[in-house]
Formats: sequence, C-alpha cells, structure tokens
Amino acid sequence: MIHADNLHKRFGSVEVLKGVSLSMQKGEVIAMIGPSGSGKSTFLRCLNHLELINRGQIAIEGEVMARTDEQGHCHYMPDADVRRICRKMGMVFQQFNLFPHLTVLQNIIEAPMTVKGIKRDEIIPKAEELLHKVGLAAKRDSYPARLSGGQKQRVAIARALAMEPDIMLFDEPTSALDPELTGEVLRTMRQLAEEHMTMLVVTHEMAFAREVASRVIFMDHGLILEERPAEELFADPQHPRTREFLRNML
Ligand SMILES: Nc1ncnc2c1ncn2[C@@H]1O[C@H](COP(=O)(O)OP(=O)(O)OP(=O)(O)O)[C@@H](O)[C@H]1O
Ligand SMILES: [Mg+2]
Repeated sequence: MIHADNLHKRFGSVEVLKGVSLSMQKGEVIAMIGPSGSGKSTFLRCLNHLELINRGQIAIEGEVMARTDEQGHCHYMPDADVRRICRKMGMVFQQFNLFPHLTVLQNIIEAPMTVKGIKRDEIIPKAEELLHKVGLAAKRDSYPARLSGGQKQRVAIARALAMEPDIMLFDEPTSALDPELTGEVLRTMRQLAEEHMTMLVVTHEMAFAREVASRVIFMDHGLILEERPAEELFADPQHPRTREFLRNML
C-alpha cells in the first residue's frame, strides 16, 4: 500500500529525514514512535505531499508519486496524478484542523462534495453513518467550538473517512487531549484497525502501539533505528536508543 524508499528531506541545511524506508501491506497497522524532533511528522507529511522530498521514491498502491533519477534529481508526477494518489490517504492531525465556521456535518461533507463532486443528497446519509460510527450522531449540527477535544478528533476521523481513503495516517491524534478524552479516540482507532483499515500512526500511546499495531517503528534523528513486531520491540528492544526511549516513556 505504501512503499517509501530512502526518503531524504532537508529544511535549509538541516537534514530531517536521512534515508527513511518503509513498506506497508494492506490492512497493516504500524505505530511510529520516537523522540520529539526525530522527523515522524515530516515523514507522514512527505507521504501525502504536504512536504516535498529531496531524494528517494514514494509509491502508493503501486503508483509512483515521486522518484529520483540516476543523477540524484527528484521528480514528482504531474499535479493531477499526485492529487489522485494522495486521495488514497486520509490524514488526522494532532490539532484536529476542523473548519470552525462549519457544523460537524458540513465539515464532513465539504471535501467529498468539492473535491470528489459527490452530490449533497448522496453524501449526507454516508456522513450520518460515519458520525454514528464515531459515536457523534447527536452532534450533527453542532459547531466545533461546542465540542470537547475528543469529540473534535472523532469528527476529524469521520471527515477523513468520508473521502473513502484506503490508508489512514495519524499524527499524534491524542496528544492535544486531556488524558480522560484519549480513550474515546483510541477506541475509534482500534475499531478502524479491527475493520482492517491500513493505518500508520505516530503516537506516544505505548499501550495502543503495543496492543493494536502489528509493527512498531522507532525513529530517531531522521532514521529508522528499529522496526519490529510490537510485542518483540516492547519486550526486547535491540537498539540502545530504543531502550532508552522506552525507559523514559513507561
Ligand atoms: N517547516 C519546517 N521548517 C524548518 N524545520 C522544520 C519544519 N518542520 C519541521 N522542521 C524540523 O524538522 C525536525 C523534525 O520535525 P518533526 O516535526 O518531523 O518531528 P517529530 O518527530 O514529529 O517531533 P514531535 O514528536 O515533537 O512531533 C525538527 O527539528 C523540526 O524543527
Ligand atoms: Mg510530530
């Protein structure tokens, strides 16, 4: 589903991704952990074209989005192709990013209508079904300001799902939430995982990573230092930096 090969990303003279590779199969749930500033968000943002890579290759569901030629020049496919490829991925951010001037329902139907051209009458039942799924049917006509953080994040998940992505990318979806609100968001994500959604989740929730992810990736200073089945990585981290990180987390 995702094939990222040797991704390099620089901001100015600072190399933030130093050759990151990841392959992900359909239905896999991968948790990405690592210290602040290690490049986790940048990696996710490169996958769905919110940042441009300087070198490497990205292919989504077998379609190349960016590749690097023998001279080391990185090329992106034409815009229309990149947009189409990126639509296979939904993204959920730490800060929800809901439209404040739109109701919950309007937030969900906006992109399917404007980006995909789906008719209002057609998308509304689907949006209502998604709201039901995330436990927010009653909030259909509320504005985001009236919702708790956990509710906002569940709307953000429903909104991403409304585009019918094949892959969901999550960037610390519970980090902005009070501890008592993280559970409801993690439950929604767990449910998605049980439905075999392909998910790449940057998280500090070690329990979630351990229980839901099939593989865990430890990233540090722009490199993947360890990538193992969840139970193995937590029980017996191999890299000293992974060990140190986990010691500080638990
Ligand atoms: N737009 C940008 N311009 C310049 N530097 C950036 C930009 N975005 C990120 N960086 C830098 O890249 C490095 C990696 O940042 P990134 O946000 O990917 O880390 P992270 O692993 O997601 O950290 P956190 O756990 O705190 O979210 C940091 O040093 C950061 O300051
Ligand atoms: Mg981040």
